[in-house]
Amino acid sequence: MLIAYYSLTGNTRRFVARLVPPADRLEISAHKRATEPFVLVTPTYNFGNVPATVERFIDNNAGYMVGVIGAGNRNWGDNFAKAGRIIAQQYDVPLLGMIELAGTEEDVKTITERMRELE
Ligand SMILES: Cc1cc2nc3c(=O)[nH]c(=O)nc-3n(C[C@H](O)[C@H](O)[C@H](O)COP(=O)(O)O)c2cc1C
Repeated sequence: MLIAYYSLTGNTRRFVARLVPPADRLEISAHKRATEPFVLVTPTYNFGNVPATVERFIDNNAGYMVGVIGAGNRNWGDNFAKAGRIIAQQYDVPLLGMIELAGTEEDVKTITERMRELE
């Protein structure tokens, strides 16, 4: 399973790097194309928003998206990891988890299992 992820300051990148076994990874930019099913991992920025680059990537690749993981920081209260919740609802894909910063060992375990179930 491909993991498509966006990371501005490196937290999400660090989380993705910890997934075992290592999945194929695609770091998102607006014009990249996925050619196989992927799980999207996206941080939340600016009051619960999906980063614009991630929105454009989904516009171009929504057909291959099979799940989403939201990332963020609990300091943002109700907006915690909201990008993942927005995308899950908008595109009707399962929300496989919400992680804070680079995630915990437990997040790595649960999310690895949930991804396996999708295969
Ligand atoms: C300007 C700014 C706005 C943010 N807004 C949110 C937010 O609305 N909700 C949230 O959960 N986290 C928010 N965050 C926290 C980031 O999502 C969090 O630091 C995340 O781990 C960043 O991922 P990255 O390092 O892969 O870019 C914000 C961070 C910054 C700098």
